Amino acid sequence: SPPALDVFPTSSIGRVSPFIFSGFLEHLGRCIYGGILPAGPTNFPYTPRNPCPPEQFSATPNELLTEEGFRKDVLEVLRDELQVPLVRWPGGNYVSSYDWKDGIGPERKRKPELAWGGEESNAFGTDEFIAWCRAAKIEPYIILNMGTGTLADALHWIEYCNGTGDTYFANLRRKHTGRDEPHNVRYWGLGNEVWGEWQVGQQTASAYATKARQWAHAISLLDPSIKIISCGETGLNHWDGIVLDELADKIDGHSIHLYTGFGPRDRTQTEKEFGRTVYGPDAAEYSIEIAKGLINKARVAKKVAKPITLAFDEWGVWDETVGTPQNGLEQFYTFADALAMASWLNVFVRQADIVEIACIAQSVNVISPLITSPTGLFRQTIYWPLYLFSKYMREGTSVRVSLSSPTFAGETLPTWITDVKGQPSILDASAVLQVTESGKRSLRIAVVNRSETESLRVPVRVAFEDANLQGASVEVHELWHKDIHAKNCWGSENEVSVQTSQASWGGEWTFKEHSFTLLVLTSK
Ligand code: AHR
Repeated sequence: SPPALDVFPTSSIGRVSPFIFSGFLEHLGRCIYGGILPAGPTNFPYTPRNPCPPEQFSATPNELLTEEGFRKDVLEVLRDELQVPLVRWPGGNYVSSYDWKDGIGPERKRKPELAWGGEESNAFGTDEFIAWCRAAKIEPYIILNMGTGTLADALHWIEYCNGTGDTYFANLRRKHTGRDEPHNVRYWGLGNEVWGEWQVGQQTASAYATKARQWAHAISLLDPSIKIISCGETGLNHWDGIVLDELADKIDGHSIHLYTGFGPRDRTQTEKEFGRTVYGPDAAEYSIEIAKGLINKARVAKKVAKPITLAFDEWGVWDETVGTPQNGLEQFYTFADALAMASWLNVFVRQADIVEIACIAQSVNVISPLITSPTGLFRQTIYWPLYLFSKYMREGTSVRVSLSSPTFAGETLPTWITDVKGQPSILDASAVLQVTESGKRSLRIAVVNRSETESLRVPVRVAFEDANLQGASVEVHELWHKDIHAKNCWGSENEVSVQTSQASWGGEWTFKEHSFTLLVLTSK
């Protein structure tokens, strides 16, 4: 059938949660040491293999640091450009052997690091994380250690962060920070990927569920205002069902993780590689749909009236054969990867009724849109969809779109996408409606054309009952490059970047081959 895109502004899916633009900082490679703090030889556990000019261990000059000693450039991009509202910390796999008491006060304990190897200086701990969050205007989200950590450790950590009484750990925080004000950490996660064989303290689903229930109970006795998030798998696993059935009455959110990229990449088979890259995010949508069903099933069984939302608190494009522990998971992204990012974000907007939090993994250097040197940074290809969605698709209501689109005939990964859902649609879209204070309606339509070779002329029909859009102004943001393998790099930082233009709306649009287009249509 010929391509067409219908948008239904009165058919609301839900308010877009600003927290879908959240981030993640883990003590891994150059994320904290090199990304948040300047790197130094004593806290820098590996030699980066950067295809761009080789990194030196040169010092970062003081004028590039905030008064607290954080990198200004990274902080400014996250706060002012991407407007990241919430950040997850300290891991990731790292958290499962993390003792928070090693990272507070004047004496830090240097320790072997079990998740990624090397040594951890503990120079960056809870108070530094909170100070950085304050400087970056970011809400903290802390993951508890359910590997080597005990429930007592967890309760002490929460008391240290949130305690307002005359208690030992609240007073210790006052002593260390020199201020009375608590850290006020509202979001806490019950462990990281506890199901994984790579995790320190791996558990079975039922053992985890029993323990997590006890922890959740005690945590809400200590601080009933806390939002508790259970540890899920990808959302559609046996693990997710067991954990949700057991915890539905104790949690506010359920966390799931998925990475697309699905290496190894095969540069000799471009079409196959392109297909597995750009259609991968369809798997995330299926995960969310199944997780939503499991949440509702558990809520019905336990008669839970309050909503449980999803925290997709690790997501992104990661080819594990490219971003490896040996290079601190530094992956240099192609233009095709940027299209995958746009499709990921379309998924979160379309699933606005259930996804409250989504944390891109990770915020700097580690499988990240941002790469730093000691004195600067560059934005990778995948930065641009994130920037555009955060700027234009954040405020408002996600509304239904209906697509008629040719389908992709090749292989996708995982292969079950096609087995279960059929061949994926080449066009991928989402839409957000904003109503301005003066009553003007502004519709933002995000479209990825996932055909490698064909541009598509598409009628875009907007079901506004009373507004004539014909001739209305449209702001166009387009991400396109002739080469799907193009990358940004030191010296060619803007090889892939967004083009913005104005047009007059004529009811249809040509979406270039392998492109991402964001249309901002404002009623007259
Ligand atoms: O983000 C990198 C790693 O991926 C995280 O530490 C872990 O939770 C996941 O497997």
